[in-house]
Amino acid sequence: MTRRADVRQPAATVRLSKLASIQDATISLNRRQTSHCVNIIDRLSKDGIPLDGCDSDLIEILEAMARSGSVELHAGHTCDKLILVPCRDDFKLRLDSISLECTWQVSRFAYMHYSDGLLIARSPLADCWLKISDHTVCDILYTARVPSSLPACKPDDYVMHACRMLARAEIIVPCEYSGKPLEAHEEKCRQWDLHDLLFHSLSRLGRTTQKMGGSYAFRGEIDPLPAAKKNPWAGSFYALPRPDIVGLSRVDISLTAAIETRRSIRQHSIVPLSLTQLGEFLFRTVRTRHIVPTAFGELLSRPYANGGGLYEQEFYVTIDACLDCPRGFYYYDGVNHGLCLISGPTADMELLLDEASASAAWMVRPQILITIASRFHRIGWKYRGMAYATQLKNVGAIYQTMYLVATSMNVAGCALGIGNSDRFCRMTGEDYLMEGSVGEFMLGRPL
Ligand SMILES: Cc1cc2nc3c(=O)[nH]c(=O)nc-3n(C[C@H](O)[C@H](O)[C@H](O)COP(=O)(O)O)c2cc1C
Repeated sequence: MTRRADVRQPAATVRLSKLASIQDATISLNRRQTSHCVNIIDRLSKDGIPLDGCDSDLIEILEAMARSGSVELHAGHTCDKLILVPCRDDFKLRLDSISLECTWQVSRFAYMHYSDGLLIARSPLADCWLKISDHTVCDILYTARVPSSLPACKPDDYVMHACRMLARAEIIVPCEYSGKPLEAHEEKCRQWDLHDLLFHSLSRLGRTTQKMGGSYAFRGEIDPLPAAKKNPWAGSFYALPRPDIVGLSRVDISLTAAIETRRSIRQHSIVPLSLTQLGEFLFRTVRTRHIVPTAFGELLSRPYANGGGLYEQEFYVTIDACLDCPRGFYYYDGVNHGLCLISGPTADMELLLDEASASAAWMVRPQILITIASRFHRIGWKYRGMAYATQLKNVGAIYQTMYLVATSMNVAGCALGIGNSDRFCRMTGEDYLMEGSVGEFMLGRPL
């Protein structure tokens, strides 16, 4: 198929975006000091401007407007059936012709979801995404679940325009002669999981039009979670010994020595750690130093750094072996520095330890396993777009603090990359959407 201007039905029409006001659009034009300002806005807000007929000057102006979110691209001249929304600041206002020679397939990175009465189709690889309110497009997608030729139609047919839009947004991708989509061969694509690429692309600036950062979107609507979790296990509280931090700061190994000698240690002695050592470790790494009330909810201070000072984490301690402490699953009360027994040994507890062991290639079954959980809405209440990413970064800060303290205490410590969040919820009774495990750290007495 060759690209051609179409007199009766344009391939696509540029229109004002639903979200952008005429004032926004005017501002984005005025910045460019164009004398056509009024005329362009007038055309955009009435019938739209057919893409095919635009000269390069007009394309440049419309492209700038598209990048600032003022205009969108509608398939053909139809209203709202299929709309292409730019989402990158290097967006190009073009609709390439597509090959009828090869077959096409839905991309492995394409996904759909519902938003505001519309189906949204997008790929983290593209500089735009689609709003769909049309059966025809859904039919094309269903056909393209396997490598397929494009539907037989005239070049100026709406179906062809829709296919071009789907290809432009990388929802459908061309297949090689082998019949496999090109992306299936590219190393740079093959090594990405969909959920990882999605997470990466939407939790950083660049490929999203979503609001990012501390917007306090739910302020006035939902109460922020308090800094200290309501502790359902307070009845079984047992105070832990507190280390002498001032004394320690005089005799402790140097920071350089801790950093340079830090290692992941996956071999534990037969003799377990003592409860005093566990208490010292928890105190030096994750206790709550104090709580600060603010107009934006309560903030906390703990030994490790934390995005927004929200300290959304809770810590749970599974004890397989510890001097002076029975086996069981405990909650660490970091405000009062003590352990609360949640349950004695259960099948889930044994499996939690087995899974930790599997994560460490069966080199050790940890004497003590610390599960880092997150009260997700502590962060979600404040941040948009980056809430979960921030929580995972915070886990990194905790891991490093734990490693350094373990080194200074001559305790065997090792971070883990995998844990079972459903098992965690079963063991705590927490709701999967409210509080979940996001990290694990093994502790033991070194050989
Ligand atoms: C985020 C993170 C995840 C990790 N996951 C695991 C794991 O699942 N199993 C394991 O045995 N070690 C794990 N480790 C430890 C690394 O394997 C270890 O830090 C790395 O090999 C470097 O060795 P070193 O810590 O002894 O310097 C993890 C470390 C980090 C920071």
